[in-house]
Amino acid sequence: MNAENLYTYQKKFFRKLGRRLLSKVNSSNLDMLALINKTDKGKDHWYTRQYKKHFHALRKKRLNVLEIGVGGYAEPKAGGNSLRMWKHYFPDSRIYAIDIHDKSLLQEKRIKIFKGSQTDEAFLRWVFNDIGSLDIIIDDGSHINEHVIATFKILFPLLKEGGIYAIEDTQTSYWPEYGGDSQNLSNPSTSMNLFKSLVDGLNYQEYKKEGYKPGYFDINIASLHFYHNLIFIYKTGKDKNNG
Ligand SMILES: C[S@@+](CC[C@H](N)C(=O)[O-])C[C@H]1O[C@@H](n2cnc3c(N)ncnc32)[C@H](O)[C@@H]1O
Repeated sequence: MNAENLYTYQKKFFRKLGRRLLSKVNSSNLDMLALINKTDKGKDHWYTRQYKKHFHALRKKRLNVLEIGVGGYAEPKAGGNSLRMWKHYFPDSRIYAIDIHDKSLLQEKRIKIFKGSQTDEAFLRWVFNDIGSLDIIIDDGSHINEHVIATFKILFPLLKEGGIYAIEDTQTSYWPEYGGDSQNLSNPSTSMNLFKSLVDGLNYQEYKKEGYKPGYFDINIASLHFYHNLIFIYKTGKDKNNG
């Protein structure tokens, strides 16, 4: 190895080491972890402010966390920033991810990545069988409305009882280039319209509607939490009252 290559190698090595050390020291501070690991879940979107409200109590549990979307798109060694953030925030959990591009080079201890599309039902079921159970699912994939809806319909039923499903960047629900609609906010093909429609189901027992048969989402959604461009959906737990 010549001096220039050695210098580049050492620079990368110490940068990685520094990031790991800083992540360890700040492992309970999600805002800091986002900055250290350079994911836009931090200072660009500040989703971490909401994530910590919902995830803090779960930090030390042994969970299976699945994130859709690794980042870095077609570049094999780019991305994985949020996966490394989750790995440090959930020190006893396994972090799984899927991406349409091959991101296998970014795998490390407690981070496993599958290649495939978030709309491919057979692939998603195969991933689920490989993982075994899912406690948290985060959709940060294509953000195309049709994809977000299809993925939710496949994966939410596979989420563990009491699990949490998060959807990021719901602003695309208003953007035509992603299949969204700003003119007709009741357009049934937008993601926000689907998630808004699930709110009534929280109260389905109160309907004065003879013979109403509750649907899967009526029965299995305990609560929905809407924030700026971010939604959390809690699955009903074993006690059927964990909202
Ligand atoms: C916004 S980036 C993810 C960023 C990452 N979660 C983070 O916070 O650091 C979106 C990723 O979704 C992937 N993606 C796009 N369409 C997809 C699809 N249909 N299925 C799975 N992944 C997809 C892209 O390749 C890209 O890497």
